[in-house]
Amino acid sequence: MCGIVGYIGAQKAYPILIEGLRKLEYRGYDSAGIALLDSDHVEVMKSVGRLQQLEDKVGEFVPNGTIGIGHTRWATHGRPCDLNSHPHSDCTGQFVVIHNGIIENYQVLRSWLIREGHSFRSETDTEVLAHLVEHFYSGDLKQAVRCVLEKVKGSYGLVVMSEKDPHRLICARKDSPLVIGLGVGENFIASDIPALLKYTRNTLILEDGELAEVTRESVVVEDCHCNPVEKIIFYVEWDAISAEKEGYEHFMLKEIYEQPKAIRETLRGRITADGLVNIPEINLNQEQIKKLRKVVVVACGTAYHAGLVGKYVFEKLLRLPVEVDVASEFRYRDPLIGADTLVIVISQSGETADTLAAMRLAKAKGSHVVAITNVVGSTVSREADHVILTWAGPEIAVASTKAYTTQLIVLYLLALQLGQTSQLISHEEIITITDAMKNLPADVDSIMHKTEALKEFTQRLSVWNDTFFIGRGLDYAVALEGSLKLKEISYIHAEAYPAGELKHGTLALIVADIPVIALATQPELHEKMWSNIKEVKARDAYVLAITTEGDEETKKEVDAVLEIPATLPLLTPVLTVIPLQLIAYYASVSRGCDVDKPRNLAKSVTVE
Ligand code: M6R
Repeated sequence: MCGIVGYIGAQKAYPILIEGLRKLEYRGYDSAGIALLDSDHVEVMKSVGRLQQLEDKVGEFVPNGTIGIGHTRWATHGRPCDLNSHPHSDCTGQFVVIHNGIIENYQVLRSWLIREGHSFRSETDTEVLAHLVEHFYSGDLKQAVRCVLEKVKGSYGLVVMSEKDPHRLICARKDSPLVIGLGVGENFIASDIPALLKYTRNTLILEDGELAEVTRESVVVEDCHCNPVEKIIFYVEWDAISAEKEGYEHFMLKEIYEQPKAIRETLRGRITADGLVNIPEINLNQEQIKKLRKVVVVACGTAYHAGLVGKYVFEKLLRLPVEVDVASEFRYRDPLIGADTLVIVISQSGETADTLAAMRLAKAKGSHVVAITNVVGSTVSREADHVILTWAGPEIAVASTKAYTTQLIVLYLLALQLGQTSQLISHEEIITITDAMKNLPADVDSIMHKTEALKEFTQRLSVWNDTFFIGRGLDYAVALEGSLKLKEISYIHAEAYPAGELKHGTLALIVADIPVIALATQPELHEKMWSNIKEVKARDAYVLAITTEGDEETKKEVDAVLEIPATLPLLTPVLTVIPLQLIAYYASVSRGCDVDKPRNLAKSVTVE
């Protein structure tokens, strides 16, 4: 996501900050900015776009400051533009702040600050922090930041600098990483280790609730009760590339493991204390919802597969017919849609050419268009009628993982929100589902600790050039995603079949030892699935079943099992897909493929 750097020492800060930000570019960003303290005066420079645009803007007239902070922003609150870029300043321009994370109560704080006479320049949540520091400052910057932190709710990794106190940087962390790099007569701050490695390998890693006062000569860390904390110096041994991957061998694995956190972010603030759903982005009223005759989901690749899960969810919860279409087909088939159709476009990047064209067509036909995307300011997010962000953080590996699970979460929330507003779903049912959704991050996390069975199965799989994924209902929808993932990064040919359809042709391809992955998580379809598993076992296939904990019957039928935690059947796709992502990953590694950049593929498909 966003990147943070800070420097205090005797060298010119500007090149150090730019270099640090460059090392964080891999995280994705859409604007950049720095603030330097030069002769007791804060100078802020920022620009939308790449770092180079910031450097071009600064040109040759670089302030000389030896204290500074820098930030690369990946837009959340407010589109990418110069004004929304960090650092943000207070009314006087004397206090500057950079921040990663989300201030959840920023709207309340902003209204209060405006009443107190503050004026805001940006649309961001972060700007409230600068004004709050101004409000609370009475001669002690650290104390002012402490008061601010008592007021804010949400997540933050932040650094504050002020010309009122030009010999220190104050930084603090909650749910957003922050690291301090120790030098001699100089110190560094960063959101990630790669930004520090050129200068130092001695680091202090801040924990949640900790605040640090960083000067040229010292770093003093306190906990949330203002008690001093003795930090252990962590010596970084990784090289810069592995540091970007935070110790993971590939971005894809890192992103798979980030899913609990990503799902938490998607859910954040969207379930109320009483268990109802709160998606203000969807402002369709009861009458508008009741007039809808159908829902059409349009997307490509993995996002299309998320849409297929959405079909089951919407039809089950809202009893509204749902069509799911691949965008490149939809746009050329003169679709039967109009003002009575809700069109949901799903796109991680928000820039996929076919999805954009499909969205424009839907708008031209007068449909309500809801976009589900991960990228603020993307074309899809700018052009849709309603936008729901997935908040998954940048996805770097070509193979989509956390984008898929967070798209599923948004689809559940969207169905519940529409059902809640239109009173098509009872509050009791909504609360039952949201309760189970709150457990999903922990459920996903628990699957990540069961990799042994998957690794063993993948050893067998990797020597084959064909494999089959079978499932029924929601399991079939997830099977399609599992098979795409495997094809995409391991180059093993994979077919996903509705299990009941095998005997209509594909069963001819089932031979002894061929790997079959059977998804069997839907209780009302269990017996049907057992019959289908028996069909492939009768041809001596080697079957791995993905089942729910406690399903002893399926276990009896198969060669290997991976159990997912029990949850509501409707929610299982979020869990079932995790082992499938891991299987694809292990297969790709064991076949020596380029996991993060598979052949012939691009992360963002901006051509037809
Ligand atoms: O950015 P989008 O979600 O619109 O991308 C759609 C597909 O190109 C994408 O999901 C693709 O299928 C992934 N590489 C699959 O892992």
